[in-house]
Amino acid sequence: MTDHQTQSILSGFRARFDRAADGLWFGPGRVNLIGEHTDYNDGFVFPFAINRRAVVALAPRSDRILRVASSFTDEVVEISLDELSPETVSGWSAYPLGVAWALGEHGADLSAVTGFDAFIDSDVPIGAGLSSSAAIECATAVALDEVWNLGFDKRVLVRVGQLAENRVVGAPTGILDQSASLLGQTDAAVFLDCRSFESEVVPLGFDDAGLELLVIDTKVTHAHATGGYADRRASCEKGAALMGVGSLRDLTVDDLPRAASVLDEETFRRVRHIITENQRVIDTVRVLREDGPSAIGSLLDASHTSMRDDFEISVAELDLAVESARAAGALGARMTGGGFGGSAIALTPHALIPAVQQAVANAFASAGYTAPDMFVVRAAAGAARLP
Ligand code: GLA
Repeated sequence: MTDHQTQSILSGFRARFDRAADGLWFGPGRVNLIGEHTDYNDGFVFPFAINRRAVVALAPRSDRILRVASSFTDEVVEISLDELSPETVSGWSAYPLGVAWALGEHGADLSAVTGFDAFIDSDVPIGAGLSSSAAIECATAVALDEVWNLGFDKRVLVRVGQLAENRVVGAPTGILDQSASLLGQTDAAVFLDCRSFESEVVPLGFDDAGLELLVIDTKVTHAHATGGYADRRASCEKGAALMGVGSLRDLTVDDLPRAASVLDEETFRRVRHIITENQRVIDTVRVLREDGPSAIGSLLDASHTSMRDDFEISVAELDLAVESARAAGALGARMTGGGFGGSAIALTPHALIPAVQQAVANAFASAGYTAPDMFVVRAAAGAARLP
């Protein structure tokens, strides 16, 4: 974060609230390297926090009023702590205010804390599948954890962010995004078991291997509070019930023949994606450790194919991004995040980044699609107070 950005957030706070902020806290966006839709199936994910982040400037008040403002709108939303509930907040303010409410659900005594003023800024693109919402939630969670003296473990803050997303925003999402945003570390990804909550930080080694991770934001926006995401979740639950297991995590590739005989054709393909994706996460972590990042490309490719054909959450723009990036020299590429739009990632040798960008831009122009936004991301530290 440059001095200029810090100053603009602090002056944004001052302009809205006519006083100085007490501090700045950030929460990064994320890319998921591999492990899609496995989180709410108790499975494995392997995301990392990126060097794009939401920042919250915040100062406690002496009364019980919460006021939130942001650089994306002129609106200042105001509510009393005594009125805070999933029913009383909506719109963008549901993210920070939802976190305040969810902290109470996780044991913070909201009758004993004071209100706050908060101003939010972010350079995580909205609707791009990079978890702009989790970035705001996690920045707010670490800020309130500190100013309200809660001392919550980061794993509890993950659940707080998820609860805000599920109950207040209304999206039935898992713990992937908040885990990446809170547990991420520089140049490393987080290998997370979403059942036990055990996590391991695994160095990526992209720099040493001369690799970059290129994000291709297709500009096709998505919303997980409606439509396909919830449908896929329901299919997974149906598949698990018909297979007689608590969650799809309990199945392995050895169960596929039985699944094929028990399940209808569509549910079978949904289930096959989850089973094979869990295996691909485990394989990716092993290959990364044994052979380095240049060797994981085919696993990323296989993940995309599975999401396109079995889980059916890709769109034509994502498929084109992935295919044209690979044809121009990316070692592997896949859509990342919930799907139905958003971004693809392409693991690309440093020297080929301009060629890959050009090839993707040309392919989109020829297809008559809106020009994508492309940028390289780095694995960055998780949510914390800014010095
Ligand atoms: C969204 C959700 C996550 C996860 C991914 C798909 O990002 O917020 O919980 O389910 O989709 O892997």
